Amino acid sequence: MKIKTPKESLTVLTDMVLPGETNSLHNLFGGELLARMDRACSIAAQRHSNRIVVTASVNHVAFNKAVPVGSVLIIESKVSRAFNSSMEVYADVWTEDRESGEKSKVNEGIYTFVAVDLTGSPVKVPVIKPETELEKERFEGALRRKQLSLILSGKMKPEEADELKALFG
Ligand SMILES: CC(C)(COP(=O)(O)OP(=O)(O)OC[C@H]1O[C@@H](n2cnc3c(N)ncnc32)[C@H](O)[C@@H]1OP(=O)(O)O)[C@@H](O)C(=O)NCCC(=O)NCCS
Repeated sequence: MKIKTPKESLTVLTDMVLPGETNSLHNLFGGELLARMDRACSIAAQRHSNRIVVTASVNHVAFNKAVPVGSVLIIESKVSRAFNSSMEVYADVWTEDRESGEKSKVNEGIYTFVAVDLTGSPVKVPVIKPETELEKERFEGALRRKQLSLILSGKMKPEEADELKALFG
């Protein structure tokens, strides 16, 4: 199977925040952002694996800054690490200033997708080779996050999480 790079999965979703997508403070509703990130990450995982993919877990989301109605929202997602059938995908969320065009980072999300066949059974995905410093950093941390997610979902015993244990060593 061909070795791929994170940039091959890069997916950029640019859209506006409309009034029907906001909370009582007229800022983007959290669930709406989760859905948009899920969509962008799903396309990135599909581009990496060239298979059908399903969301297995949302490992981390930080709603750091409110996003007001009318904002231009940019979601950049990329596969940070591929395991056997699962892939960790990062979503970096930015807003774009109307006048200067400058981008500010507002949120971040980390998702896990699994590549499946037509019956929904997991299938193998290509290996990924990070290139930039940030891609290497995210690649390095991905196994720890996978083990934490598996522990939280009851699919792994804490004592089996070697990579996490080494961190707290
Ligand atoms: C995700 C799904 C395919 C996993 O199936 P499964 O029978 O648990 O398969 P496995 O145990 O072999 O796990 C497959 C991979 O997912 C990973 N995985 C499963 N649950 C995970 C979790 N909570 N966090 C991180 N990784 C997870 C496993 O570690 C494994 O990774 P690997 O093959 O890269 O080592 C299955 O649970 C599913 O179809 N869920 C529904 C998905 C869906 O509908 N999503 C949309 C929600 S609306």
